[in-house]
Order: sequence, then C-alpha cells, then structure tokens
Amino acid sequence: MVRVLIGDFQLSGGDPARGVKQWVATYMKDLDYHGKTVFVSGGTSGINLGIAEAFSAAGANLAVLSRSQEKVDAAVARLKDCGSDAIGFSADVRDFAGVEASLKEAHKVFGEIDVLISGAAGNFPAPVLGMSANGFKSVVDIDLLGTFNVLRAGHAYLKKPGSAIINISAPQAYVATPLQAHVCAAKAGVDMLTRVLALEWGDQGIRVNSIVPGPIAGTEGMARLAPSETAQAAVAESVPMKRMGSVDDVAKVALVLASPLAGFINGAVVPVDGGWSLTGFGALMNTLAGQFVSSSR
Ligand code: COA
Ligand code: NAP
Repeated sequence: MVRVLIGDFQLSGGDPARGVKQWVATYMKDLDYHGKTVFVSGGTSGINLGIAEAFSAAGANLAVLSRSQEKVDAAVARLKDCGSDAIGFSADVRDFAGVEASLKEAHKVFGEIDVLISGAAGNFPAPVLGMSANGFKSVVDIDLLGTFNVLRAGHAYLKKPGSAIINISAPQAYVATPLQAHVCAAKAGVDMLTRVLALEWGDQGIRVNSIVPGPIAGTEGMARLAPSETAQAAVAESVPMKRMGSVDDVAKVALVLASPLAGFINGAVVPVDGGWSLTGFGALMNTLAGQFVSSSR
C-alpha cells in the first residue's frame, strides 16, 4: 500500500482524495487574516495600496504610512471600504522618530503587528552624470534607509514568534540598469537587509522576505520609467509573458508569503515579474532613454 505523509495528514492508498481535500481545506484557512494587523509603509498608492487592500479584504486591520496627509486619508477611506478597520500616518520614512511614533501608535490601536511591509520608494530616470549627490542620496535614503527605519522601529511591535516582514524590492536590485544607478544601489541594499535579518531574526519566529515586482501597469513607477504608450508597449513586449503585471499579481503573492502557507520561506527574494528579470531588460532603458524630456529636470 502506498502511504504518503503531508503535514499532519496521511494519504493512504485507499482514499487519497479524501486526505488531500482535508489538508487543502485546513491550510486554505491560513489566508484568513481576521484579527491580524498589517502595517504598510508607502501603502497609500499603487502596488503597496493594492497589497494593503488585499490584506484588508482578507480581514486584517491595516495601518498605512506615507508623507502626504491627503493620500493617507484617501487610502484609509478605501481600506475601510474593503471591510476592515484602518488607520494612517503622515510621516517620511527617512525620519526614524516619525516612523517609530507611527508604529507605536498602530501597536497601541491594533496590538501586535503580524505583517510588516516596507514599500515606500522614490525613483526618477537619470544617468549618473545627470543626478546630483543629493538626487542619488534621496532615493537611497527613501528606499534603503527607509526600509531600515521601518524594520528597525517595527521589530519592537512585531508578534514574536509568528510575524512576517515583506520588503518591496525591484528588478534593478539584480539587473544593472542604465539611468537607475540610485535605485539599483538602493534595492540591492534592501535585498541584502532581507537576507541579513532573515538570519538575525529567524530564531525569533520572524520571517523576512522580499517581493520583486516586474513592470506593473498603471503605477507611478511605470509612468516614470516608460512615460509614453510606445515605451509601455516596448516594456510589455520585453516581458517573456508579453504583458505587464497587475497590482493584483503582486498582492496575491504577498497574501501567501505573509501567511503560514509560506511558513518555511525566509530570506527569499521572490520575483513577481513574468520572467522579466531573466531577459536582462537593462538594455531596454537605453532604448527608452530618448523618451525622457530631460535627464536632470
Ligand atoms: N533628474 C535628476 N535629478 C532629480 C530628478 C530628475 N528627474 N528629480 C529629482 N531630482 C533631484 C533633485 O534635483 C534634488 O537634488 P538637488 O537638491 O541636488 O537639486 C534631489 O533629487 C531631491 O529632490 P527633491 O524633490 O527635493 O526630493 P524629495 O525628497 O522631495 O522627493 C523624489 C524624492 C525625487 C524621489 C521624488 O520623485 C518622490 O517623492 N518620489 C516618490 C514617488 C515615486 O518616485 N514613485 C515611484 C516609486 S518606484
Ligand atoms: P507609488 O504609487 O509612487 O508608491 C510609493 C509610495 O511610497 C506612495 O505611497 C508614497 O506616498 C510613498 N512614499 C514615497 N516616498 C516616501 C517617503 N519618503 N516617506 C514615506 N512614504 C513615501 O509607486 P509604485 O510604482 O506603486 O511602487 C511601489 C513599490 O513597488 C516601490 O517600492 C517600488 O520600488 C516597487 N516597484 C514598482 C514597480 C512598478 O512597476 N511600479 C516595479 C518594481 C518595483 P507619498 O507620496 O504620500 O509619500
């Protein structure tokens, strides 16, 4: 008789379907986020807001943070429409004190944070000779120092054991890309933070992973890098799946990665890019360079 053990369930040669149905039904409940708290930095627009909405629709209480109070208010209203409770904070991820105060307040309102997502980022296309030291620093500070701040301040308020951190990275972290030196350097650093903290915090029951979205349609990031219909079509064509991704493509992976379904995934950098980063799309940026009105504003 064939006997297969999956988790706590035994599939016996006699009735495999019954065993696997029980196993799947039990673990699908892991995607129910009722009673959980999710904090998303940069969660007021684009991909990060889409991720926040997905967690909200799955039952979680949401806290979002970004600079613009107007965007924060609009995001909180949308998240409440998804069915769960939501709060928001106006703060700059470059300011440790502001980030820490927001996390502390979120913890006070909702309790321990189950899922912490660092997604705030800045980008503009410019060659190294077209950006000042401050331009380079701005992006590195938002993406990399900002992620450090969110994770460093957030650690005190995380559920331990049993929480998950997701850093939102970018293919530039490992695909050298012209006009993107600041983003390449910053996001490579973000992925290294993911890996180091997976080691430092793994024994506390905190999993730390990166999600790497490919080109995502309808987002600020793509509007900046491919600012015309022609450029967007060229980007879509360069993806092996011949389309840009959607915000939902990324949000679905975040729901799984933060859940016990991914309970043994730690320190991973997970592309959600239709295979884009396999193509060495960096050269495409040279082709698109003519699309930008000016490299220095
Ligand atoms: N080319 C070259 N340099 C640029 C630039 C461009 N297109 N846009 C901004 N800079 C430079 C500025 O000139 C400035 O340098 P300087 O002081 O030497 O002149 C530096 O970047 C900072 O600009 P500032 O507007 O003061 O920064 P900020 O902190 O207010 O904003 C940015 C940060 C520049 C990243 C801004 O684009 C932003 O807020 N982005 C968030 C949204 C976003 O990028 N979404 C996509 C995410 S993928
Ligand atoms: P977006 O809509 O511009 O989102 C960026 C968010 O970060 C906004 O909520 C913004 O709000 C906030 N933010 C920016 N600077 C901040 C700061 N200093 N402090 C606090 N919050 C700040 O961009 P997006 O295109 O959806 O990108 C979202 C994430 O996905 C980013 O991490 C990006 O690198 C990554 N990504 C995007 C793509 C893509 O195709 N779009 C591809 C790969 C990776 P405020 O303006 O109110 O601060």
